[in-house]
Amino acid sequence: MLSSAVAVLRGLVVVFMTAATVLMPFSHEKEQKITRKNENCRASFAAISDTHLKDNFIRLGMLEFGLRDMEKAKDRLDAVVFNGDITDHGYPEQWQGFTDTLLKYDISDNNIMVIGNHDTWGKDDDYEYTRKNFVKYSKEATGRKISNVYFTTKINGYPVIVLGSEADHTYATISKKQINWFAAEMKKASKTGLPIFVFCHQSFNGTHGLPYNWELDKNEDDPTTGGIGDASDDILRIVKKYKNVFFISGHIHAGMTVEGSDKTFYSSVEKHGNYTLVNLPCYEYPDVRRGGHISNGTGYVFEMYDGEVLLRARNFASGTWLEKYDVTVKLAK
Ligand SMILES: [Fe+2]
Repeated sequence: MLSSAVAVLRGLVVVFMTAATVLMPFSHEKEQKITRKNENCRASFAAISDTHLKDNFIRLGMLEFGLRDMEKAKDRLDAVVFNGDITDHGYPEQWQGFTDTLLKYDISDNNIMVIGNHDTWGKDDDYEYTRKNFVKYSKEATGRKISNVYFTTKINGYPVIVLGSEADHTYATISKKQINWFAAEMKKASKTGLPIFVFCHQSFNGTHGLPYNWELDKNEDDPTTGGIGDASDDILRIVKKYKNVFFISGHIHAGMTVEGSDKTFYSSVEKHGNYTLVNLPCYEYPDVRRGGHISNGTGYVFEMYDGEVLLRARNFASGTWLEKYDVTVKLAK
């Protein structure tokens, strides 16, 4: 009885938040087009996560609000990253919905799709099915020719490495083969002397408040829950070998925070010496229990400069900046 009352209450909250986001462009908040903060910006990209698309006009419509904002950018984005859980269940019709929607807008010349756990759920225990769909729709939606769920690309010369799960679990299944490939690609990327951007839907175990912002019990539950899982330490060991690495995840469905803000016990951006961990807020389907700034349509614009990278928080659906959550990361020489 109590749980159904909670479910109804949560449903109402989601409906209210969705309505608030839809109406926000018409509120007192002034729409501000995407522009680079400073003139000497070398590249910029937008990153959003967890759109969880299904045959639902609200979710597809919310994505459209954001795509329209990106298309209208005064300073064109060099790339846009969709950091996993693009679909709610990995069904072909959901991939098609994403593809059809994305193709309506000219948002950048380099749109990057990352696989999330929900994207692997099209067929139980069938990674081949998932891989084939991901490869097919990456090509159709973004023009990218890949053969696997992990690959590399560049954003205006800045190296980008995309990791992806090879099974259909909530955690990431990263094979030994993929880990070795990652080590080799990181070595190659470091030779550019530029910051390296690594995208993986799941964050490292125990980061960004995990597992406790997944409402788990500190004394009873597995502390690795909600993270990459078994491969976490191996991947982190490789990341730690290089400087100016940005490891960008989603998956947690927490709201946007900066250290000490909103009375949360976690931060969306964790600076650890030479590497920085960024957890993207949930673009749709946010969980109100997880704290932080909760609203549909949020993500970051990354701006790269010679000595620093700016993370600019934005609500793409309403076309407004959220300066309170901006973070500047100084680069190591
Ligand atoms: Fe998700």
